Amino acid sequence: MSTDAQKPDSITLVRPDDWHLHLRDGAVLESVVMHTVHQFARAIIMPNLKPPVTTVELARAYRDRIAAAVARQNTHKHPFEPLMTLYLTDNTSPDEVVKARESGFVHGFKLYPAGATTNSDAGVTDLLGKCSPVLEIMQDAGMPLLVHGEVTDPDVDVFDREAVFIDKVMVPLRHRFPALKVVFEHLTTADGVAYVEQAEGPVAATITAHHLLYNRNALFKGGIRPHWYCLPVLKREKHRQALLAAATSGSGRFFLGTDSAPHPKGLKEHDCGCAGCYTALHAMELYATAFDAAGKLDRLEGFASLHGPAFYGLPVNSGTLTLKRAAYQVPAELPMADTQVVPLAAGESLAWMVDD
Ligand code: NCD
Ligand code: ZN
Repeated sequence: MSTDAQKPDSITLVRPDDWHLHLRDGAVLESVVMHTVHQFARAIIMPNLKPPVTTVELARAYRDRIAAAVARQNTHKHPFEPLMTLYLTDNTSPDEVVKARESGFVHGFKLYPAGATTNSDAGVTDLLGKCSPVLEIMQDAGMPLLVHGEVTDPDVDVFDREAVFIDKVMVPLRHRFPALKVVFEHLTTADGVAYVEQAEGPVAATITAHHLLYNRNALFKGGIRPHWYCLPVLKREKHRQALLAAATSGSGRFFLGTDSAPHPKGLKEHDCGCAGCYTALHAMELYATAFDAAGKLDRLEGFASLHGPAFYGLPVNSGTLTLKRAAYQVPAELPMADTQVVPLAAGESLAWMVDD
């Protein structure tokens, strides 16, 4: 540490967790999983595989594949625990919630409004109609609902889809199920921040590093920049400022979720490019850079390591992670299966790096 408390040269945190992560499967899983293991002790694993992970049995098999991929490669010997989720559909049975609760390894159900994002075709078409019996049991069981909070109506402007979702879905959902634990995933707007701050009952939100570091200008800087395209899409600067204030506020309602989403380079740099930013490689470097720029490095540990476990009712990790103030050069690309993945901010330099 330097003598200037505001400008430390290094910080050591309780080992953090990633509360929103896409690992995919097969050779892609094999290529990306160690980036997460390097920085995080646990991660909430998103279930939007093809086909989606809709049952406890599918989640068990997926968890075993993740554990096997880690075991094959884990030279760090940091323990890593995948926290599994199930993909909610119109046909999810109440029984599956009971099984999930009993499994001990399923920690939430993910709501994808049908068609909202990558691999969401099997998503929910009528949450309060078709899914009410399931939501009732989730509420009673203390099983969190993780929400992709965007409406899919093509008439709603893509930049307004989160704000409209709050009025059309979140408010009625919470009115009907006030004790349901809800995580508003990858929050992107000042409207979302205001909602989560004020909502009654057990409501929290994850925030990505890219939504803390960039506004929507990043999508068009000198030309169209597909590696900055994700859903929900980057918003105006006033929204980024609201997210940064929320993440660094110390409120236990906001915690870290990278939403790291590996897509092959060729499908990002494409005439209909996929949504998703790859940030697992340098997640804590990105978050530390954002918190430092806000003068709030002292709030990073709560956001990254303490608030998430408290909301999910899980223990805090026992290990630590140290970051040092040093230039971290983001690689141009990385091998992924038989192709490449381009990390966010490829070729740029970040102010912090993980100290191994
Ligand atoms: C995610 C993906 O690629 O799976 N993409 C994204 O832009 N965030 C899906 C998601 O979380 O919306
Ligand atoms: Zn996601």
